[in-house]
Amino acid sequence: MSVKLLTYEKLAQCETLVMGVFSDVREVPVGLPKSMEGLIARVREIGDVTGKADEVHVLYPEEKGSCRLILCGLGEMKKWSLPNVRKALGLGAKRAQALKSKEVAVWLETFAGESGNLAEVAQAAAMVGLLALYQYQELKTFLKPEDKTTAPKLFLASRNPEACAKAVDWGEIIAEAANYARTLANRPGNKVYPQILANEARLLARQYSNLAVSVLTQPQLGKAGFGALTAVGSGSSHSPVLIEIKYHGDKPKAAPIALVGKGITFDSGGICLKPSAKMEDMKFDMCGAAAVLGIFKAVAKLKLPINLVGIIPAAENLPSGTACRPGDVVTSLSGQTIEILNTDAEGRLILADALTYALRHKPSQILDMATLTGAVVVALGHAAIGMAGNDDTLAAEIHAAGEESGERVWRMPLWDEYRDLLKSDVADLANIGSKPGAGTIVGAAFLEKFVGQTPWVHLDIAGTAYGDGGSVYAKGATGVGVRLVVEWLRKKLAFSSL
Ligand code: BES
Ligand code: ZN
Ligand code: ZN
Repeated sequence: MSVKLLTYEKLAQCETLVMGVFSDVREVPVGLPKSMEGLIARVREIGDVTGKADEVHVLYPEEKGSCRLILCGLGEMKKWSLPNVRKALGLGAKRAQALKSKEVAVWLETFAGESGNLAEVAQAAAMVGLLALYQYQELKTFLKPEDKTTAPKLFLASRNPEACAKAVDWGEIIAEAANYARTLANRPGNKVYPQILANEARLLARQYSNLAVSVLTQPQLGKAGFGALTAVGSGSSHSPVLIEIKYHGDKPKAAPIALVGKGITFDSGGICLKPSAKMEDMKFDMCGAAAVLGIFKAVAKLKLPINLVGIIPAAENLPSGTACRPGDVVTSLSGQTIEILNTDAEGRLILADALTYALRHKPSQILDMATLTGAVVVALGHAAIGMAGNDDTLAAEIHAAGEESGERVWRMPLWDEYRDLLKSDVADLANIGSKPGAGTIVGAAFLEKFVGQTPWVHLDIAGTAYGDGGSVYAKGATGVGVRLVVEWLRKKLAFSSL
């Protein structure tokens, strides 16, 4: 799917035209034929279309070439905000899709009003449009090939397309990277196991010449001392791998930023088996890994002037005669011994080795993304990513990027009270807390033991990585993390070039 800019004269001929309407502005925006203007004026006059936020109305003009007008409420123009615009665009796009539109055009000026920046709106429209129209259909054989591409074509109409072009490119690249992450994550566990994830990374490196991928396989991991990662993967016939992906956009010697993503391709819980209800959702336990790959795709396309290294520990957590057991003690790559008290707290184990490995690249900063704990849903629901870290500046930057990108982040504290819970009777540390409560923080406190002094933040995306279809996202993976991290990098680079 791609976005095309449309000239203003074509507005009246759009099959489906999506417009924004404000509650405190009654005038019909200029640009449509009189008959369509009249129709909009009338519904406003009657009061059926108020322009309140979250309102979506469909009108059917008689103008030749035009099939439907979708009016999206934006609330008051004097309280204009980008998140409101994003939400309205998402609702409008979803309605257009539900009505089986083949072409959807968004009239950008009507969303910007007099308060918004047109380029910002253009980027949001490209991004939200593509995210809202995404569907995962590759495994539905009853759909004929021609029906599979039912996602409508997206057009953006503006009086000033030149001013929007670059923003639209960015929006499109970021959304497509997020949608790529969504597809990887939506694929079931029998189709995506560690070696497949490695192949996907290799494929990405073949597509973009500024990316390089290397993969450590089971014998190499064993020899090198990845005791935690190999223990988690030991119950599955699909052996674990460590995927390393590099992007060079800065001077070769400049320290890279490390991105680490949890790649549990299926989490049954292992010997500490999970209940069967919703266990199928555990195919999403590699959403951190998918986000890392998505970020590399976006950065490679945008050619950002930075160096990045991505580390993806990938394993399948299954019970079997060769699986690790509760009580086992493993030696992690860092040399620290870990008592595995719960085989379902496997994410932190594979991340421990991945973080240690990341340090070998002497990164300036480390970000890890992981569907780590169910507890983050208890704390924050599905509205925000849970964050913890050892660096206030980095945490503040990520929080700000969350507000900007719409992928919101909320920081939790890391105090000794939580660190103390990880004491083990027999090893250097245990993989779960000795008392219940603060599950997300305890998970982060565990990871902290493996990052040394390097500025680091951990992002727990268990509540945001997939959804039930209630938001602008279709049911399934959301690609969370891609928009957030690309926004963070964009901001960072803009600042450093000042
Ligand atoms: N993959 C799960 C976390 C998860 C839960 C992700 C729900 C998405 C939705 C993780 O490996 C896990 O099982 N964590 C345990 C940790 C506990 C045993 C300390 C959990 O959250 O229950
Ligand atoms: Zn688990
Ligand atoms: Zn897990």
